[in-house]
This record gives sequence, C-alpha cells and structure tokens, in this order.
Amino acid sequence: MFTFLLTTLAVAGRALAAPVAERADGVQFIGTNIAGFDFGCSIQGACNLTQATPPLSSLGGPDGAGQMQHFVKDDGMNMFRLPVGWQYLINNKLGGTLDSGNLGRYDQLVQACLATGAYCIVDIHNYARWNGQIIGQGGPTNDQFVNLWTQIATKYASQSKMVFGVMNEPHDVPDINKWADTVQAVVTAIRGAGAKNQMILLPGNDWTSAAAMPTKSGPALLKVKNPDGSTDGLIFDVHKYLDSDNSGTHTECVTDNISGAFQPLATWLRTNKRQALNSETGGGNTASCQKYLCAQIQFLNQNTDVFLGYTGWSAGAFNPQTYELSEVPAKNGNSWTDTSLVKACIKKQ
Ligand SMILES: *[C@@H]1O[C@H](CO)[C@@H](O)[C@H](O)[C@H]1NC(C)=O
Ligand SMILES: *[C@@H]1O[C@H](CO)[C@@H](O)[C@H](O)[C@H]1NC(C)=O
Repeated sequence: MFTFLLTTLAVAGRALAAPVAERADGVQFIGTNIAGFDFGCSIQGACNLTQATPPLSSLGGPDGAGQMQHFVKDDGMNMFRLPVGWQYLINNKLGGTLDSGNLGRYDQLVQACLATGAYCIVDIHNYARWNGQIIGQGGPTNDQFVNLWTQIATKYASQSKMVFGVMNEPHDVPDINKWADTVQAVVTAIRGAGAKNQMILLPGNDWTSAAAMPTKSGPALLKVKNPDGSTDGLIFDVHKYLDSDNSGTHTECVTDNISGAFQPLATWLRTNKRQALNSETGGGNTASCQKYLCAQIQFLNQNTDVFLGYTGWSAGAFNPQTYELSEVPAKNGNSWTDTSLVKACIKKQ
C-alpha cells in the first residue's frame, strides 16, 4: 500500500456518507501536460519522429524542466503528464526493445518531473494505433503493445510517483470488449513487471470522452482487474474540452459540460466505487474559457471522492504565441508568468 491510496480510500469512505464531498482543499492532483515528445504523432497513431520536440533546454528545446519547477513552486501543482509517441520510444521498431538513445532523452524529462516531487504520467500518445491500425484489432498484436509497457514498467517499477497512462485517446475502436482485453493485458504486464501499486490510467474509446465513459466504454473497462482481483490504483482516464465541437482547438469555450458529462460520470463512478483523472482539459486564454473551465474544475473539487484531479492541456514545447490552448508560462529573468487560464483556473486557487 502507499500513501496516496490510503488517502483516497479515506476520502471515499467519508464521501459515501455524504455524497458530495466538501473538502475545502479540492482534488488531490493538479497539473499540466508537458507536451513535445509526442509532436508529429497524428490521430492515426503515425508519428513523424523528426517532428518530436523534447521540451528540455538541455536538448535544445523549450525549458519544460523549468516550467515544472515553477508550476510546483508557485502554483501548487503536483502532477505532470508527459506525452510521447510509441514510435519514438522504440525508434520505429514495432515489438522491439526501447531505443536507448530516445528512451534516455525521454527519461531526462521523467527525471526532471520526479525531481520536483510531483507525480509523473507516462502517456503513450497513439490513439490506440500504430500507423493507422488498431492494436489487437487488425493492427499490432496485444503482445507487441504489452512488450512496450513491460519495458516501461520494469524501468520505473521502483518509482512510486510514476503513473502509467496506457493510451491517449482511443477513437473509432470497433470492439470495446476486445479493447478492454488489450487494456487488461497491459495492466497484468505492468503489475507483473513489479510496478505493483502505481496508478494506471484506463483509456476508453471516443477520445476517452468523460461524457461517453459511463455508457460506452465504462461497462467493458470495469472488468479490468489487477492480478489479485482488486482494482486498486486502476483509474479511469477521461478527457474533456469545452469548445463548440468538443475538439479543444478553439479559443472560445461554450460549455462547462457538468450536466452533460461530469455529473453523470460522477454518479457512475460512485455507483461502481471507482475514480477518474481528467488528464486533458483546457481552453483558450479567453474570458469564456475562464468562466467555463473554472466551473468545471470547481465541480471536480466538489466531488473529490470520485475525481482524483486534472492535468491541463498544455504546457511544454508549444509556441505560446501561436498555440490556441497554450499553458506555457513566460520566463522573464528568474521569474515566470502564467497564462491567464492557468492563473484563473488551473493552478491551485
Ligand atoms: C516529417 O517531418 C519533416 C519535418 O517537418 C518533413 O520534412 C517530412 O516531410 C515529414 N515526413 C513525412 C513522411 O511526412
Ligand atoms: C459539451 O458541450 C458541447 C458544446 O456545447 C456539446 O456539443 C456537447 O454535447 C456537450 N457534451 C455533453 C456530454 O454534454
């Protein structure tokens, strides 16, 4: 057992008596994505490795390590999600061993994250695919995907603050039960590799939509278990954007999606005694996104028995001048200035 789980269980126990938890201090985990190693990966799970942009000044990129230090010190953050392409980690050799050069570079970001004391999510940013084909359903075999995760889990087995984000945003996966089998195979492999207690994020279909989880993917994913039959540390991964088409590509927000997504999800999680992490959400640095995202996050903070936390999309290697959803802080001398949305909603208030 580890501290995080004990705290969580204690909170859940309290919350059962009073369905809406009233913890003034809100969710346990707050943070952002530190994107860049995933750049060049399409929604078809094809990654152009020349476009990967390590968010590390030591590797010629933006200072993701400095960003994380700032977020922890000045904003109360304690979790970062570190997206990376599957192809990058194994240098395009499907089923092969982790590429020592590329893994070494990605690990620099992981170590920079761990050095802040935060929890660090490995996020395989491949949309359930390898070069257009779906894992376990016509594309790579489950064994090839399990091989990737076995190696990652073996490497980080002794780090209690590592979190394993099995897959970013599966979409248009034809058979959800087969997908749940794929996720089960990965969970079994991660635990078997010695990472017995770390959190594992379970991804549903429909771009891991928070709204779709209760009815579409959740019923199949509820069957995923640890080797001991428990579901300790198995957390549902959910995403949500607030723009007009739910895509996270517009700077204006039009909904807080509470009644349509987070409220029904909270009820479903409570009924099934499970929890979720909102590992991507965000919006433009606009008044409308401030209004709606702050409302969404407040709802998470009022339902801490079922919501563990959130990581905003996104800081890291994005160009703050051109990227619509930038959460990249600006560095001036030794101090950092946050974007207006991070200031208003994402940081610890
Ligand atoms: C990969 O990206 C590089 C740099 O943007 C580009 O020049 C190249 O054409 C791309 N390759 C493919 C196969 O798309
Ligand atoms: C969230 O808001 C968007 C924009 O209004 C809407 O299209 C979508 O249906 C909403 N989702 C849910 C689950 O309510």
